[in-house]
Amino acid sequence: MLSTKLCGIKLDNPTILASGILGVTASSLINAANNGAGAVTTKSISLEERKGHSNPVIVTFEGGMINAVGLSSPGIENGIEEVKEFKKRSKTPIIASIFASKTAEFGEAAKRISEAKPDLIEVNISCPNVEAEFGKLFAADAKVAASVTEIVKNSTKIPVFVKLSPNVSNIKEIAKAVEAAGADGITAVNTAGPGMVIDIKTAKPILHNKMGGISGAALRPIAVRCVYDIYETVKIPIIGTGGITNGRDAVEMLMAGATAVGIGSGVYYRGIDVFKKVCSEIEEFMKKEGYKNLKEIIGKAHEN
Ligand SMILES: Cc1cc2nc3c(=O)[nH]c(=O)nc-3n(C[C@H](O)[C@H](O)[C@H](O)COP(=O)(O)O)c2cc1C
Repeated sequence: MLSTKLCGIKLDNPTILASGILGVTASSLINAANNGAGAVTTKSISLEERKGHSNPVIVTFEGGMINAVGLSSPGIENGIEEVKEFKKRSKTPIIASIFASKTAEFGEAAKRISEAKPDLIEVNISCPNVEAEFGKLFAADAKVAASVTEIVKNSTKIPVFVKLSPNVSNIKEIAKAVEAAGADGITAVNTAGPGMVIDIKTAKPILHNKMGGISGAALRPIAVRCVYDIYETVKIPIIGTGGITNGRDAVEMLMAGATAVGIGSGVYYRGIDVFKKVCSEIEEFMKKEGYKNLKEIIGKAHEN
């Protein structure tokens, strides 16, 4: 009833552990798979090992959470080992997320991580391009997003999902450009903002980095709108991510046009078995409303 397919890869259910939530290590990703995730995504991996920002890196507020982890990475060698280890120990599909600070490095990272044979590669372009003026995000420029996609596609035979940022004036334009450049799918979205929370007793921003990306409930309506817009623009499958914590949220995202749904902050709110919980809530809804499979739900909001 809940199975779905992404570029020919079968998922037992549409819930996917989002990138960055449980790191890169095989054992924590296996924990998500054992708790019902239909697929898991690694934290984004760069070629070189990178330190993240200093603590505190996460602050919660009534609408969700703000993080400034700062794209820490264990480096590509470690990433390759962990993906290989995961594949040895689990049959659940694994998505390797990569990022870089220069366009050419995306190609190299994709080529290297392909050695570990992940089922899909996700390209995190919501990071600053050090070659652009003011370090503009790769995700903020259609031409740059397309050239990253093209380089990655030329470096691997594994299907490539490009992960978009909601912080753009026209997400349709970016989606169209990455599809034309060869992307096999789109993940939408990364965190919004940046946002800030100030401790009014000390009169200082709480995060060490002062600001960070907003995820959780506050992001959900933005993510749903992005997925709705992207579905109207491209033919490739979409992983809808942003603020999904229960079955209702997941169904909403599927109706907007997602083929599968990413869950990040929801792991903090409902525990590691959030995947199982969301799946049984989707199933309950489907039985009550007479839906037989996910195909009947995906993109349904566009019929009305
Ligand atoms: C602590 C934390 C770390 C994250 N790290 C990454 C990352 O390394 N790469 C990435 O593409 N997205 C990263 N994200 C973004 C999530 O994958 C997801 O797109 C976002 O949080 C929205 O989904 P959610 O509302 O379900 O959390 C991170 C999010 C959080 C909260």
